[in-house]
Amino acid sequence: MQTTAEIAEVRRHVRTARAQGARIGCVPTMGALHAGHLSLVERCRSESDYVCVTIFVNPTQFAPHEDLAKYPRPMEDDLRKCRAAGVDLVFIPDVPSLYPDGYQTWVSVEEVTQPLEGAMRPEHFRGVTTVVTKLFNIVQPDVACFGAKDYQQQATIRRMVRDLDLPVEIVVCPTVREPDGLALSSRNVYLSPEERQSALSLSASLQLAADRLATGATDLRGLEQEMIDLMHAQPGVQVQYTVLADPDSLETLTQLQPRMVGLIAAMVGKTRLIDNREFNLPQPTASPSPR
Ligand code: PAJ
Repeated sequence: MQTTAEIAEVRRHVRTARAQGARIGCVPTMGALHAGHLSLVERCRSESDYVCVTIFVNPTQFAPHEDLAKYPRPMEDDLRKCRAAGVDLVFIPDVPSLYPDGYQTWVSVEEVTQPLEGAMRPEHFRGVTTVVTKLFNIVQPDVACFGAKDYQQQATIRRMVRDLDLPVEIVVCPTVREPDGLALSSRNVYLSPEERQSALSLSASLQLAADRLATGATDLRGLEQEMIDLMHAQPGVQVQYTVLADPDSLETLTQLQPRMVGLIAAMVGKTRLIDNREFNLPQPTASPSPR
């Protein structure tokens, strides 16, 4: 496994691999790698011949009051996990090499970034789409893997790649969870044992929605309220949003449709967690046509 902080060196390694016929894969991360990230690496290995993981805690996607300074950075551990997972190249740039003095160029995606996370974190997605574009320009992957865990992020990146004709295939991988349902997140390390218990109410409320929809619920606002009530019954949970939305536009739905996504953000103590789940309603079987 090669490790580098240099853009030119990444380009050199990738050029060599591509010259040997390799399909190039990329998994962008902010490090503090867990089984969720490693599931993307595994998928990426099956979709490509040469996998580059990027580790960069991107300052432009954090607001001033957010956890940039205290974001976990266990670099030795991360490199060990990458090596064990069969990664070919780890790119660990520093901030000045991606954002040199005088930096002033941004990529922003409009409508899909406006609700939900975008409403709570105004410049977040501009930071994400800009750094992902830069990483794509440096690594030039044929395929890149993202997690469904950050649902609005993957929807935004898919939109950006389509709108800008970027020559990269986006693969979205399912959310990896603890056996009790908690979605793996680098931020889970901030939770006390009591908060971790309360945090289970996020996935539990998505399970509640799945059950209600499967048994014929139609009142979406009522269902969202039931989900909120379930979470607020736990100590320390403060819901920021809970919506049933369209999986592509992320607009809040006013009525049932065959494919929907439930999206949640909540503070658990001082830690902000997000979770989501897709719902596919059974299609009514078409009545046989009269002979
Ligand atoms: P980070 O939070 O490190 O996540 C890196 C990738 O891992 C993202 O695609 C995310 O959706 C995925 N991921 C995180 N938890 C997961 C889980 N439990 N199951 C499956 N996948 C999971 O997302 C970012 O970094 C940044 O915004 C980035 C795209 C790297 C741009 O800076």
